[in-house]
Amino acid sequence: MANYTQPMLRDGALVGKTVIVTGGGTGLGKSMSKYFLELGANVVICSRRLSVLETAAKELTEATGGKVLPVVCDVRDPAQIENVLAEAIKAFGRVDGLVNNSAGNFISPTERLSYKAIDVVVDIVLRGTYYFTLALGKYWIENKIAGTVLNISTTYAWTGSGWVVPSSIAKAGALTMTKSLAYEWGKYGIRLNAIAPGPFPTKGAWDRLFPVELQEKFKFENRIPAGRTGDHQELANLAAYLMSDFSSYITGECITLDGGEVLAGGQFNFLREVTDDQWDTIEKQIKDATRAQKKAES
Ligand code: HXC
Ligand code: NAP
Repeated sequence: MANYTQPMLRDGALVGKTVIVTGGGTGLGKSMSKYFLELGANVVICSRRLSVLETAAKELTEATGGKVLPVVCDVRDPAQIENVLAEAIKAFGRVDGLVNNSAGNFISPTERLSYKAIDVVVDIVLRGTYYFTLALGKYWIENKIAGTVLNISTTYAWTGSGWVVPSSIAKAGALTMTKSLAYEWGKYGIRLNAIAPGPFPTKGAWDRLFPVELQEKFKFENRIPAGRTGDHQELANLAAYLMSDFSSYITGECITLDGGEVLAGGQFNFLREVTDDQWDTIEKQIKDATRAQKKAES
């Protein structure tokens, strides 16, 4: 087995820490949560769907023996965020870390979007990130806790990219918040960093960003210098390092983990080749996937 698929930090690296992971019930959030638990952290996972969170919490507890608290939260609502913090303190006594991982995204020509379609993505990614960070920052400063924030970004936060414009606007805002607050809150011992992952297979991203119509035509393996997509453990390794005290001297940084994909510039700009007819099919596939997800919930 290749080394990058192996856990990297030493045992107990996160013992004594409680970390909130937004969107921790699925995809990369779940993989990071699993590794934080293996390293001894308590983990609070939150998102909109309780059944997804509860299933994930059970699975993660069984797999790691760690303590996982699932709490429903729409990150666009400050009252629900404050409830997550209150529940976390009630369960674990304090909170040391926050991973802003929740996101909404889908590919589309921008001129096809309604105002609401832009808002829905920007509100989850940008508003959700600054609301959650503000809630934790106030709590940490008041309680003299040297907290750590990790924002899950994208490489198009600074290159920009067509066909994912709402996400690009929002991720860029979250990235500049990371750097601004790293300076402002440095005096409280609070650190903020980001990771910009390249493509890491998850159902959430693949349903919305690489629908069947595109999968054969634009294979990642051909576009990424490393010749492969990312492995969840290698992202979890970097995330755990940035959440741990081993990275105490790193703040305001965004680390790219993408096998060199960013060097081509504009992660989704290859979609220039997609025709109008194909966009009709793609939009239907993405909306069907979202509908299927909602139906599975009801
Ligand atoms: C055009 C679309 C659309 C599409 C939705 N809309 N899909 N417009 N093309 N393909 C429009 C709808 O018509 C509606 O506008 C508006 O968006 C809101 O849609 P809803 O389905 O009602 O919203 P909601 O149920 O809140 O769902 C939010 C969502 C959905 C963002 C649209 O995809 C979701 O729940 N996503 C969560 C998970 C996720 O996205 N994970 C991927 C993260 S990956 P109107 O005006 O018609 O009502 C990621 C990776 C980046 O960020 C880099 C990868 C390499
Ligand atoms: P995912 O599994 O779809 O994760 C998105 C999570 O966000 C879900 O758990 C979802 O849970 C949650 N979420 C959505 N709207 C929310 C809201 N309003 N309030 C609270 N939570 C909400 O996709 P993923 O690929 O793992 O993405 C995780 C992160 O990695 C995202 O920030 C994404 O931008 C970033 N990223 C991923 C890739 C990749 O290739 N996978 C590449 C670059 C960056 P609910 O539906 O239950 O709310």
